[in-house]
Amino acid sequence: MHIPANKSLVNKHILLGVTGSIAAYKAAELVRRLRESGAEVRVVLSAGGAEFVTPLTFQALSGNPVHSELLDTEAEAAMGHIELARWADAVVIAPASANVIARLTQGRADDLLAAVCLATEAPVAVAPAMNQQMWANAATQDNLQQLRARGVHPFGPTEGGQACGETGPGRMLEAADIVRRTAELFDTGALAGLRVLITAGPTQEAIDPVRYLSNRSSGRMGYAVAQAAAEAGAHVTLVSGPTALATPPRVERIDVRSAEEMHAAVLGRATDADIFIASAAVADYRPAAPSEQKIKKTTDTLSLELVRNPDILAEVAALPGGPFTVGFAAETANLLEYARDKLARKDLDMIAANRVGGGLGFEAEENALSVIDANGVTELTQAPKAQLARRLTALIAEHFRRRSECFL
Ligand code: CTP
Repeated sequence: MHIPANKSLVNKHILLGVTGSIAAYKAAELVRRLRESGAEVRVVLSAGGAEFVTPLTFQALSGNPVHSELLDTEAEAAMGHIELARWADAVVIAPASANVIARLTQGRADDLLAAVCLATEAPVAVAPAMNQQMWANAATQDNLQQLRARGVHPFGPTEGGQACGETGPGRMLEAADIVRRTAELFDTGALAGLRVLITAGPTQEAIDPVRYLSNRSSGRMGYAVAQAAAEAGAHVTLVSGPTALATPPRVERIDVRSAEEMHAAVLGRATDADIFIASAAVADYRPAAPSEQKIKKTTDTLSLELVRNPDILAEVAALPGGPFTVGFAAETANLLEYARDKLARKDLDMIAANRVGGGLGFEAEENALSVIDANGVTELTQAPKAQLARRLTALIAEHFRRRSECFL
């Protein structure tokens, strides 16, 4: 597959809403281009949209079933409106008719697309397509203004010849422009020019040449944070324990195995970093004297003596003039209390606490975080790790900037 230089759409979940406008035929081209840019696409087709292009076209082009019914038990069972709303990294409505713009403004939830837009935390964009008089009408302009104030991104329209024979504003942007604008939704620039150092994954502590102690960390959260930070414009260095994950685009990765190796890799770079995010599940202990030869099962019991590993995060936080430090706390109980204790004990700027167990945490696709700093707690509700990482990154950027302003 051809991947363009701008890789912001790689692995992104784009929910494309297609509504009733003659420009719906251009949405077919848009699906193809979004997929060429590396995105996964699901189409929500409104009743009006289905008058112009059949679901089969979008199913074939997106490689996914097309969603159109809100209250159909079968469709809801396959992927309900809340699941779709969560799945989306961005919702793009192209073409957006005057009708859907009015309905979004009212906050309606009486068809699938409107309900998804209400339920999603992802950015929503509309690419208007309508007759120039409908576009110029004060009702449409007022609606757009309200949507803009609520954070909806208008993509276009442009001017030109229209299907109705008139000429003027109201033409939908070309597919290539919509793809570019969609990619820009992820390139926030919130960390532009900053150096971000991140640890991720588990560590492996050698017992002998073939065995080790480790934990269940998949590294997914740290990798997602690395990707989000790179998209926010940071220069990202990811110090990673052993994982099965691909390096995110534009991220410099340094592979390590043990806590001591991770410690050396991080401390060698920490003074150059503006922000340090410790998401690795570093083994607290390592075997005191790993055997040089494979240990043979000659005895009924075997004891391993363990010694403490260096606390990488605490050491970075203690560096004079060191980076803004963000820790993670994975807890099964007393989440906020333990996390606050870690924030204070390690002298961190921020800590992201998550509950492990019950389908959340280390090996799960989704997560939820309570982010704590000196001013209080921000709850980031359950979402796929990539989305959560973007919200966490935005929060880190905001707090980092606030702290930097205090020092000016
Ligand atoms: N951490 C680290 N180096 C270590 C241990 C932990 O950098 N040797 C970092 C982790 O990356 C994470 C945070 O510290 O950001 C977790 O704190 P920690 O106190 O190690 O967590 P737990 O082991 O769960 O703590 P406790 O044993 O006190 O429950």
